[in-house]
Amino acid sequence: MFKLISTGICCIVVTITLAGFSLSMYNTAKQNSLVEKQHKGKLVNEQKQAHYNFQNNRTVVVSNPESIPVLVNKQNKLPAGYVPKDLVFTQIPFVPSPADSEKHEMRNEAAAAIKKLFDAAKAQGVNLLGVSAYRSEKTQNSLFNTYVNRDGYLKARTYSALPGTSEHETGLAIDVTEGDGKCAAVDCFSDSTEAKWLQEHAADYGFIIRYPKGKEAVTGYQYESWHLRYVGKKLAKEITSQGITLEEYYNAAKVNN
Ligand code: DAL
Ligand code: ZN
Repeated sequence: MFKLISTGICCIVVTITLAGFSLSMYNTAKQNSLVEKQHKGKLVNEQKQAHYNFQNNRTVVVSNPESIPVLVNKQNKLPAGYVPKDLVFTQIPFVPSPADSEKHEMRNEAAAAIKKLFDAAKAQGVNLLGVSAYRSEKTQNSLFNTYVNRDGYLKARTYSALPGTSEHETGLAIDVTEGDGKCAAVDCFSDSTEAKWLQEHAADYGFIIRYPKGKEAVTGYQYESWHLRYVGKKLAKEITSQGITLEEYYNAAKVNN
């Protein structure tokens, strides 16, 4: 009898404990989903603001997309459907990718300049590879969306441009990497001999490191030691020697003039 009663009590205790545990699990889950909802709400608002800025007068369409030193950034976008007229296939080695891929293309002047830069580097024992040069608006769109799906919109915006605002769409930019391609478009490239060589010599061939370290608030993008932008020798040397960005350069002389 006593055994029966104690087993019964034991069962009730276990049931109550389990019920309490489930209830607390339920509450925690409810709380988490509330926090998540609030967080998402915040993200949605920030995302809406970013889109607002992008679509309204804080983003202007550049009037000189064909100009070699054109400023294309989060505030200055290319005309819809812009395709540079003088794209050619660069004659430089790339990380494995189909030779007829658009990513091997650059505008004529930039393609000649990158070839000279690669040849000069090679002559000094520095082996560079192209990763990605020209991108159509469509390619940039799907690339940006891939990053949004992986990291979320706000994070993606710190390292990838919305379609219409990427320098890759101008045919004047190229991402490069070191000879074994292990650090293609990732941070470890920054410490390589190749990245150091570029910092010293890119300007001699008309290129700037477009998104420098410490200038994230000016360019709107994280440091990219691999993203080269062709602006022509004179401007590249001026910008590099002054340690400024293209944005800072244009504060003195308006881009759309
Ligand atoms: N990674 C640079 C910002 C681009 O997407 O053009
Ligand atoms: Zn790039």
